[in-house]
Formats: sequence, C-alpha cells, structure tokens
Amino acid sequence: MLGLIILGAAVTLRGMNAIKHEGERAALGVAIRPEFPIFAERSHKKALAYLDTAASAQKPTCVIERLSSYLSREHANIHRGAYALSADATQMYDQARSKIANFIGAKNEREVIFTRGTTESINLVAHAYEKFFNAGDVILLTLLEHHSNIVPWQLLAKRKGLRLEFVDITAQGELDREDFARKLKTLRPKLVSMTQVSNALGTIVQLQDLVPLAQASGARVMIDAAQSAPHTIIDVAKMGADFLALSGHKLYGPTGIGVLYGRLELLEAMDPFMGGGDMIRSVTTEGSTWAEPPSKFEAGTPAIAEAIAFSTAIDFVQKVGLEAIHRHEEEVFGYGLELLRAERGVTLYGPAAYGRPQASIISFNVEGIHAHDLSTVADDCNVQFRAGHHCAMPLLKRLGIQSSARASLGMYSCREDFEQLREAVRYALKLFR
Ligand SMILES: Cc1ncc(COP(=O)(O)O)c(C=O)c1O
Repeated sequence: MLGLIILGAAVTLRGMNAIKHEGERAALGVAIRPEFPIFAERSHKKALAYLDTAASAQKPTCVIERLSSYLSREHANIHRGAYALSADATQMYDQARSKIANFIGAKNEREVIFTRGTTESINLVAHAYEKFFNAGDVILLTLLEHHSNIVPWQLLAKRKGLRLEFVDITAQGELDREDFARKLKTLRPKLVSMTQVSNALGTIVQLQDLVPLAQASGARVMIDAAQSAPHTIIDVAKMGADFLALSGHKLYGPTGIGVLYGRLELLEAMDPFMGGGDMIRSVTTEGSTWAEPPSKFEAGTPAIAEAIAFSTAIDFVQKVGLEAIHRHEEEVFGYGLELLRAERGVTLYGPAAYGRPQASIISFNVEGIHAHDLSTVADDCNVQFRAGHHCAMPLLKRLGIQSSARASLGMYSCREDFEQLREAVRYALKLFR
C-alpha cells in the first residue's frame, strides 16, 4: 500500500519519499484517483481510461470545491471595493499570484501576469513587444511548435514585415541543435520562441544551453511551457528565459486561467496588450498613462475564481510532488509504450520510438485505420484520447503524416489505461480489417 491519503483540499501524504519501487510508483495513479471525481462519475460498464491529459488535465476535488466555495461565499470584484468581500477577494487573488511566482521560481511576483492561458500569453507578447521589431527582423521558431506558438508570430510578421524561420528536427523527432546554432548565427533573430515539450511527439527540448546561446546571439527568448509545467519543475530564474507561458487547465486547475512570466524590465518597457479598467495610472479625454506590471497587462475584471482555484491546484501538485508525478508517469509511459510497440500494425512516433528519452505522450498510428476512426472506436471502450494534427500541422507535415493518435498521461494514469487502449486497438483492427 502506498500510504497516501488525500483529503479534499488538505492533502496529507505519508511516505511519498518511500515510493521507490517500480510497482509502488505505478500505484500513485491508483491511489490518487479517488481525488478526481470524474473517474467515479464516468466509469460504469468500463473504467474511464482518460489518455488526453496533454489536452487538458482532470480536476481534483480540492480545485472543484475551491471554485465552488469561492463563488458561493467569497466573491466580489477585486481592486475596487473598500468593503471586506472585495478586500478579501483581492488578497486571495494576489496570494494566488505569489504562489504561482514561487512555483515557477520568479524572483518578483510582479513578473507574473494572469492570462487566459498559454495562447493568450503568447499573443500578449506578440502585441506588447511589437514596437521593438523592425521590418526585416527574424523570429526563430522550431518545427515542434503548437499552432499557438506559430500563428501569433505570423500575424505579427504580417503587421511588421518580419520573417519567420523554423529550426528543423532530427529523424528521431528531436530538435536539431546544429540547425538551431546555425540559424542563430546566420539569421541573428530578434526573438526565439520555442516549446520545452512538444505536445504532438513528447519531445523534450533541453533548454539549459539553448537559452543562453540564443541570448548571446542577441535574441530575446520565449518558452512555451504548456506541456512541461505539469510534469517538470520550472525555474525561470535558472532557465534565464525572457518570457514563459503556461496554462492552468493542463496543471489540474480550471480553464480560462494561465500565466505569462516576463522579466520585469521588459514588461516595464512593453506596451499594454489590451486597454480598459485596472491597467491605467490615469485617464483623461486626451490620453492615458499605464499602471505598473502586472496590472498594465490585466485590463478588465480578471478570472478571479479561476486564479484562486489555480493556486489550489498548485498546492495539490506540490503536495503530491512533481518529482513523484514525473517518476510515476515515466513508469506508466514505459509500460504503455511497450504494450503498443508489441501490437501488430502500430507505428510509434517521437524519440521514444528510437529508444530516446521523452515526455509522457505517445503518438502513434495503426496501419489501415485513420486516427479519428481509432479514437471513435476506442471511445466505445471508454478509452479517451486525441486524434488529428494536435495543432501542430507543420510538425506532422515534416513527419510525412497528416494525423496520429495521441495518448498522454497525468498523475492519475495507470497501467490499466494502456491495457484498455490495447484492447481498443485490437477491437478496431477487427472492425476495420
Ligand atoms: C505546447 C502547447 N502550447 C500551447 C498550447 C495552447 O494552450 P492553451 O490552449 O491552454 O492556450 C498547447 C495546448 O495544447 C500546447 O500543447
């Protein structure tokens, strides 16, 4: 027995440090499941095998209850009222910011801006940093990017006459580090924006030398941490990036809340993203001046309940422990990979297919069955996973495929999920052959 007791908002973990053996690691998923009500709600004839955590994580009871308790008993608008409800809500919102600053290693909580998610964070930079670009400047991306780290830059490029360039990948689906260094040298980009983990392949981009290399060549660096933050410890100070984006809903928090981290001196120099209440210092009929960051970038009423419940999700993740989550997912991932690899007709994509390390996302196809059909058939077996281009069309094109099935893991994932997935694959093979 794991010795893991989790009670609503208060998470009591006994003996987490003792989770050392393979079998016990796999047990985290089983032990933590009662914390996620959806598994009880949606497991009737068959257990719910939820393998789409890369798209969005399921929510623990403590997050659901925090949203509900805040909305039932504690809600008022923030930064506006002199009355107790508003002052308390303001304090809780500010505390959520401090918690998240601490979670990502930001030295100053003013460097943490609440957004709706990674997509909005990247769009914010693409607008607010716009004045620093001149026609002809280069923005360097990689072929591993999600569309949300491509399209905002394409729109900016159109507005300002910029050039977008892409770092290639290797045959194993890893970032081509030589191409990266070469493109830095020859193109001298003004900004490099790249993901830490590919959502489509699970490729991990080792950033520790790439960030300083890009900065040494004169570029600002933005990191898309949407897929890495739920599985890895993020330390923006150590990483040294100028900007970093993540989404609350992939980190067991609510939808509609995310974070942009930005170095304070850059945030201070940037223009606002949106105009409205809360982001100004003064407004006259002639013009306005801006509040200091983070308020400068948080126009209008923010997602107060979601920010507060996101900080509850961070508490939850920290109590379970990102290292324990990572080890557990790695173990279940390895098991799932081998099950799928052994199935006839299955092609695996990404570094793990070549025996190389990667994140807990398995991208695959089954010969003769379109990924969408596979996913639809699997749904009959209560196995839920993503199929399609995963918002990474340039990457799939580079791989020479149009779609894939993608099974992705979270802290509640179990070996049984992959056994159910294997059954679903076999069932689909029977139907389609
Ligand atoms: C790597 C990556 N970047 C960005 C995003 C966009 O995140 P969101 O839809 O939460 O804004 C995703 C979503 O799947 C992603 O996987």
